[in-house]
Order: sequence, then structure tokens, then C-alpha cells
Amino acid sequence: MSRNDVLISGKNITKTFGYGKNKITAVHDVNFTFHEGEIISIVGESGSGKTTLAKIMMGLLKESNGNIQYKGKPRQLRTHANRKEYWKDIQAIFQDPFSSFNMFHKVEKLLIDCIKLQGLKLSKEEQFHKMKDACSFVNLKFEELYNKYPFELSGGQMQRLMIARIFMLHPKVLIADEPTSMVDACSRSTILDMLLKLRDENNMTIIFITHDVGLAYYVSDTLYIMEKGKVVENGQAEKILLNPQHTYTQQLISDVPKIHSEWNLG
Ligand SMILES: Nc1ncnc2c1ncn2[C@@H]1O[C@H](COP(=O)(O)OP(=O)(O)OP(=O)(O)O)[C@@H](O)[C@H]1O
Ligand SMILES: [Mg+2]
Repeated sequence: MSRNDVLISGKNITKTFGYGKNKITAVHDVNFTFHEGEIISIVGESGSGKTTLAKIMMGLLKESNGNIQYKGKPRQLRTHANRKEYWKDIQAIFQDPFSSFNMFHKVEKLLIDCIKLQGLKLSKEEQFHKMKDACSFVNLKFEELYNKYPFELSGGQMQRLMIARIFMLHPKVLIADEPTSMVDACSRSTILDMLLKLRDENNMTIIFITHDVGLAYYVSDTLYIMEKGKVVENGQAEKILLNPQHTYTQQLISDVPKIHSEWNLG
């Protein structure tokens, strides 16, 4: 596959929750096309349907309507084998790192599980080197952490550990749902830079979900702007930032001078 090949796409994706007067349409007739090696940001305010859409892409929630194509074929998730194959290729980092780890497993086990997930049969020494490499990629010291439980780590360390797992699993698609929400501005740009490095080194497709259009512009090639479950505008990040068409997008980026000074964009 070359960099520009379509990897995953969705057509008329809709998701409703509840029935009757309690019915909510969280995602409404959304279309998307994401390419190999592309970084896409899905931007929208709280409740606009970003996480719901991400969970549908991940195959953790079933769409009420529409269909998803992966590598040019309808995505199959019916059997355990289908799902296992799909989840080798697509991984997610969610808002809350606490929900991503089994709190009763020490760091070493969490990382060894990544090696097992890939079906790799490695010697103890090879395992050690693989885990050490992954930790140094995210500026963590394996020797200091391997014997700790996740709750003994700081929020920033936990988020970096999540990225270390992604480094080990090297999925084709990474969905990062507000991965920087728990860290300070300095760790935030480090995390974003790590994600960019992962894309550059592995040609990973990254779907980055955020409220923050400034962050989105900093990391992405493409923006999808969501309002109340609908994609109201999508396209090249720079084009949208310079010339937003939809009033909701205009409202979101009315703070452009702030974006420029925060990210040194000139
Ligand atoms: N399991 C569920 N059952 C019922 N309603 C749900 C469920 N999950 C999400 N919703 C509703 O769907 C809408 C979209 O929620 P979603 O979590 O996708 O928003 P979001 O854009 O990710 O918001 P945030 O930025 O706050 O994370 C909200 O109105 C939410 O209350
Ligand atoms: Mg969300």
C-alpha cells in the first residue's frame, strides 16, 4: 500500500441510543475516508459524538446504520477470529488512561501482554529488550517501572506507557481520544510529538480526537469538524483553518491569534 491508499472509510454511519422520547442520535449520517499514513483530527465540543464515532471505528460499538470498509473490503467483525485480526491492526488510546489498563497487572505484565498479542515467541532476553526499547521511545525507564502497578504511576507516565504499548503493537490505525487531557502543556506537546514520530516511522494512520482546534491543527493533515453528531465540514487542516466555511467551524477557530502564538505558527 502506498501512503495515499484509502485504509478505512465509513458511509452513512449513524448511531442511536435509547428508544422513543429518550432516543438520542449520537452520530448522524457520517461519511469519512482515511488514508494510510494520514493524521486526521475529529474536532467538536463535548457531546458532539466523537467518542461514539471512534468506538464504531474500533468495532467496540455497533453502528445502527451505514457500513465501514477496511482495506477496500466490508469490515467483518462477526467471528472472534475476525475481531482478533481487526484489533491487531487498529488500536485506541482513550481519554482516561485508568480505563485502558488492568490495574492489577504490573507494568511488566502489561507490556509482555503486547508481545503475546502479536503472537511473538521471544526469549526472556528478547522480551526484555523489546520492553526496554518501547519505554525509551517514550522517555520512561523500564528498570524503574517494571515492578509497579499502573496506579503507582503519574498521569503523564501512564499516558506515555499507553504510547509505549502502541510502539510495541505498531497497529496500522491508532485512534487517540483526547490522549493529552490529563497532562500539562509541556507533556502534551511531548505526547503529540511521539504520535507524529510513530506516524513517520510506521506510516500509521492516526485519528486524533479533541475539543481543541489548535491542537488539531498542530498535528493533523485533515480535519473533520463535528457538531451534534454530524460532520459539518472536513478537508485539509490548513484550508479549513484559513477559510472555514461552516459557521460552527468559524466559531471554533475564532481564536486563531491564540492558536498562532501558542503553537509558534508565525
Ligand atoms: N452508551 C450510551 N448510551 C446513551 N447515550 C450515549 C451513550 N454514549 C454516548 N451517549 C450520548 O451520545 C452523545 C455523544 O456522546 P460522545 O461521548 O460520543 O460525545 P463526545 O463528542 O465524545 O464528547 P466529549 O468531548 O465530552 O468526550 C451524548 O449526548 C451522549 O450523552
Ligand atoms: Mg469523548
